[in-house]
Amino acid sequence: MNYRLAYAIGFHPWEDAAADPPFVAKAAQMFDREELGRQPPYGRALDLGTGSGIWGIELAKRGWQVTGVDLVEKALRRAHDRVRSASVEMKLVRGDVTALGRAGIGDGFRLILDTGAFHGLQPEEQIAMGQEVTAVSAPDATVLLFVWPRRIRPLIRGAYRSDVEAAFPAWEITDVEPSHFSLPILLEVILRPDEKWYRLRRKLSFELINR
Ligand SMILES: C[S@@+](CC[C@H](N)C(=O)[O-])C[C@H]1O[C@@H](n2cnc3c(N)ncnc32)[C@H](O)[C@@H]1O
Repeated sequence: MNYRLAYAIGFHPWEDAAADPPFVAKAAQMFDREELGRQPPYGRALDLGTGSGIWGIELAKRGWQVTGVDLVEKALRRAHDRVRSASVEMKLVRGDVTALGRAGIGDGFRLILDTGAFHGLQPEEQIAMGQEVTAVSAPDATVLLFVWPRRIRPLIRGAYRSDVEAAFPAWEITDVEPSHFSLPILLEVILRPDEKWYRLRRKLSFELINR
């Protein structure tokens, strides 16, 4: 998908997820699990392909110190407005998720969230993203990826579980759960989303072997 064009013409249906109670409830459940037994502030969180910042803001409200990264200037402008209206702190950075080192965001992120960037990338970009995520993550980090399954459809490429595994060899997929995302009926029929939340944790053995 050409996101620059999409934002330029005001086409951003993914933002509707914020008004979809089953999706919101499931996202909250995913976040709850990462906060279990801890008190805010929870640490650094990275919202990759943050768009207009919806889910990064949600994390900031919950007590994460959030940085959002996106390539598209217009999306970031929308995010700045949203952050201001929400009266939260969230850092917004223009950058490429496949080259996070160049974005100058630092490291030590305990939670890495992606609601929609990874599954649109080409395999080599997915692998670059995985490497960059690993480089900026804390040893006890979690990655939450919202992924549409790979199939022939317009607009969104999608990804197989094997694509996630190939991009994140230093990580173990601990859970794959339905996101309960729904679309208007016509888009539902055309795009057949059936998307999932992937939860990944860093493999300790990988760290030790590759030290
Ligand atoms: C489907 S939208 C989701 C936006 C937001 N996460 C949400 O759920 O509302 C995907 C976002 O990823 C961004 N994106 C795609 N590829 C990117 C890349 N290589 N680097 C940074 N951002 C990217 C797009 O600009 C877009 O804002």
